[in-house]
Amino acid sequence: MTKIIAVVSGKGGCGKTTAAINLGLALNNFGRQVIVVDGNLTTPHMSIHLGAPLVPVTLHDVLKGNAEIHDAAYLHPSGLKIIPGSIRYADLQSIDPKKLPEAVSGLRGKAEVVLIDASAGLGSEVKAAISAADAVLIVTRPELPSVTDAVRLKRLVKEHGKDIIGVILSHVKGDSRDMTTQNVETLIESKIIGIIPYDDRMREALMLRHPICYSHPESPSSVAYRKVAAYLIGQPYIESIKMEKKMSRKRVTDFLLEIFGVTEYQKQRKSKDRASKLL
Ligand SMILES: Nc1ncnc2c1ncn2[C@@H]1O[C@H](COP(=O)(O)OP(=O)(O)O)[C@@H](O)[C@H]1O
Ligand SMILES: [Mg+2]
Repeated sequence: MTKIIAVVSGKGGCGKTTAAINLGLALNNFGRQVIVVDGNLTTPHMSIHLGAPLVPVTLHDVLKGNAEIHDAAYLHPSGLKIIPGSIRYADLQSIDPKKLPEAVSGLRGKAEVVLIDASAGLGSEVKAAISAADAVLIVTRPELPSVTDAVRLKRLVKEHGKDIIGVILSHVKGDSRDMTTQNVETLIESKIIGIIPYDDRMREALMLRHPICYSHPESPSSVAYRKVAAYLIGQPYIESIKMEKKMSRKRVTDFLLEIFGVTEYQKQRKSKDRASKLL
């Protein structure tokens, strides 16, 4: 059975995309079949985080009725399956977010866990991501603006009748300027299921276009994401758990392959015709 989880935050920059790709990878490495979908339709970032900005078929093509959802699935070298959105300005214009739930439902039966990386705010895109999901994970920073947005978001989630799995506290420095976990829990009235430390190596992971669980599996934030993943599947986290294979520090743009079988991304990207349509 497929569980579809929207990763939401209210405020932007809280760590949703980072959480979606790292939880996705950690779950994948725990043997779960996972697909991460970029549900941020007007400002998609997942493909930027993972070095896939120029893939030939995107979620936007699916939402426009020009492709099937499986045509837009790609494999990151880490083993993570992703469905990126288009970053072309023209593609962002004519998109109807209401089509997202139906598109994502096409993934039922194709994975055990589908993570939707939602957009910020409380608008139609976020509503679409929540509608598409069975449950949501809230990501927040330990700061008042972020937490107050999470509180409003929680109400939106409740209005949609969806379960809240819990809250992930990201960018945690643990100093006196951070809100305490207790205060965050009290305000959001949901359990904190993960504390992800502020991690300077995140910038390097971004530069490498990798989830940090792949580029720096030993870093504190990677460990923290693996703990959340273990929690999600109801397993105790064991520190000696086999770490993700460390990879050579190459950029990944040229390594993406289409998964469900047809053509190598690399070949498609080299097509002049295709290249002229990009960005
Ligand atoms: N634990 C962390 N420590 C430091 N920087 C982080 C951490 N998590 C995410 N970031 C960085 O914070 C920025 C916002 O994260 P992102 O996942 O893009 O947020 P959102 O998707 O909610 O807008 C990115 O530059 C990302 O690399
Ligand atoms: Mg994002």
